[in-house]
Amino acid sequence: MKFFIDTANISEIREANQLGILAGVTTNPSLVAKEGVSFHDRLREITQEVSGSVSAEVIAEDAEGMIKEGKELAAIAPNITVKVPMTLEGLKAVKAFSDLQIKTNVTLIFNANQALLAARAGATYVSPFLGRLDDIGHDGMTLIATIAEIFDRHQLETEIIAASIRHPLHVIDAALNGAHIATIPYKVLAQLVNHPLTDQGIEKFLSDWNNQK
Ligand code: E4P
Repeated sequence: MKFFIDTANISEIREANQLGILAGVTTNPSLVAKEGVSFHDRLREITQEVSGSVSAEVIAEDAEGMIKEGKELAAIAPNITVKVPMTLEGLKAVKAFSDLQIKTNVTLIFNANQALLAARAGATYVSPFLGRLDDIGHDGMTLIATIAEIFDRHQLETEIIAASIRHPLHVIDAALNGAHIATIPYKVLAQLVNHPLTDQGIEKFLSDWNNQK
């Protein structure tokens, strides 16, 4: 499983990129709005920093509008992936982008039929939202496993991005259940590194080293 970072914050992206594990970035309108910057300018900055896929979401709700916006986004850099919401209009746009060889990430996936439809329409990625399903008492992880099984059984090449990740266990379970990618907020990425026994071990090694006779 590969790691994407789920943020539009350039400092977080730079920090994560220095770790040598970053395969891509996902943004969404809420994450961009938090930054208070021009969307296109920020996408330019991100694509200069990261060579992997950078998902940029369309705002239009009709296929025609999505296609127009998506073409403008895709023109920013070759590694832009156009993020499209899972709707009937979104599927039409995904098909058009697929014909134009523009990569897509179908977002807001909450059931396996949505994922299968997106894959058949030609999506490069689908993003099932684990945390938001867990929030309403559903099992987000079962959805990842189901989509992985369907894609495997029908030899679909669309990659599964485990999204709406809230904690380190989500990351382990997404990897075990067949997600190709987890897109993770910076805070969770930092948590993945930590273990109290690692900290205690470092402290003990250092104190033994400093107290040697
Ligand atoms: C994925 O691409 C989305 O940007 C993101 O994972 C949504 O997460 P949230 O439910 O924490 O907003």
